[in-house]
Formats: sequence, structure tokens, C-alpha cells
Amino acid sequence: MLWTLSSNERLVYMNKNLRSAVIAGNWKMNKTPDEATALINEIKPLVADAGCKVIVGVPFIDIPAALEATKGSNIAVSAQNCYWKESGAFTGEVSAKMLKTMGVEYCILGHSERRTYFGDTDATVNQRTLGAIEAGLTAIVCVGETLSQREQGITNELVAMQTKIALGGVSAEQLSQIIIAYEPVWAIGTGKTATAEQANEVCAVIRATLAEIYGREAADGVTIQYGGSMNAGNAEELLAQPDVDGGLIGGASLKAPDFAKIVEAASK
Ligand code: PGA
Repeated sequence: MLWTLSSNERLVYMNKNLRSAVIAGNWKMNKTPDEATALINEIKPLVADAGCKVIVGVPFIDIPAALEATKGSNIAVSAQNCYWKESGAFTGEVSAKMLKTMGVEYCILGHSERRTYFGDTDATVNQRTLGAIEAGLTAIVCVGETLSQREQGITNELVAMQTKIALGGVSAEQLSQIIIAYEPVWAIGTGKTATAEQANEVCAVIRATLAEIYGREAADGVTIQYGGSMNAGNAEELLAQPDVDGGLIGGASLKAPDFAKIVEAASK
């Protein structure tokens, strides 16, 4: 199929091979430790031959169970937030260093639910990102517009700005510890998925923003996921887009067969 593409398109497709496809489940505030173990045990055999990276983003309380259940498998564990200070008088917080010490490799940051309900801002997302990187975690940084922002026609500028602020102070060398997740807020948990074209357009804007800061080559190496009602039925089309390198999956990540189908689509 490649030879039917223009040389520019071919370049984009070749660039896609430079980065790893990453499918991450965002379990949100779901599952007790025992339930987490059961779900991971159900997912494990279904994704054992995955041709992409597979991550489960679990609640803090489930981390020990998830690390135990994923031991020796191809599934990595992510947290869903972290604080940037190593330790101190920060009641209720969990530091990036604490997560890293336990064996957690990834941390979702700046999810729209954190921004909407828990006061996260572009500035705190930046601090969390720097803290996560400093501790040795890979940050999955979420950006995305609300419906009214999309209707106002400011999606691209807004997402570019969120990306720039989140990565303030992140060096080119540290870019290997960054994944960006484009999650249109209007598509999260609503069953309204962005079209493949909409998802690709904004992911390409994010990549162009990264290229502006770090250069084209560095930007080509960054995994950019789409998230927002991605499911077993629509994953293949979304993941086939040249600038969509993976998915951050909410609802569908809680059903092992559905999550496995998405992993399979990303492995193609
Ligand atoms: P959803 O959630 O797949 O349930 O829309 C995605 C997310 O919030 O990361």
C-alpha cells in the first residue's frame, strides 16, 4: 500500500516506525486490589504477544497488587497522578519518587478529570511532569480541548499551548520520558469519539509543537496517543492514522477482551 502514497505521506508513515505504539489503560477510580489482580490476570494471556507497549494505569491503592500480578509479563504499571516534591508535609499526596521506588514506570499527568475536579492547571501539570521525569518515571501528559473551545475554533492553539507549558524545562534528552495523550474533553467517557481525521490533525499539531521546541527528529520519536471513547470497534481506524501512536483507554480498559482487541489493533 505504501507505494500508492505521495512521497510526503510515505515520509510520515516511515516516521511512524520510529516510535513505539503504546496502549495504556486508565482505570480511573475503579477496582480494589483483589479486583485489580483478577483483571490483570485476565488481560495477561490476551496481550502476551502484543506488538506494542501495554500499560495499566491503576489507582494508588492497587499498585502493589498490580506490580505483583504483572511480574514477568509484558505489562507495565502506571500511576494516575503524582506530586513533584520527594517528601514532606503534603498530606494526602504521593511523590513521583515513592512510585518509582515501588517499581512503577509510568504516570498519567494532567488528565482532564484532575484539571476539572482537583485543581490541576497547566502550571501544576508542568511541575508534576518535571518531578516525574526527575524521579525516573515516564510521564503520560494529557492535553485536550473542551467542546466549547473546539466550537470556538481554538483547539489547535490551545493544545499547542498546553503542550508547551507542560514541557517547560524538559530537555531534549528527557523527551524519551514523555508520552503525550491527546484527549478531547468532550470525547472522554461520553461515547463520542473524535473522528480519525480530527484525532490525527491535533496529534500532528502536537508533533509540530514538539518540533518547534526540540527539532523535527526529536519530535518524530515521541509517542502521541489519542484518548476519548476509544474502543474495540474504533481503535483500528484511529491507530492507523500517521500521527496517532497509541491510545489512552478509560472505560474499555476495564474489560479484558475489549482492551486486548485495542492492543491487537495497535500491534498491526
Ligand atoms: P474513556 O476515557 O476511554 O472512557 O473515554 C479516556 C480517558 O479518560 O483517559
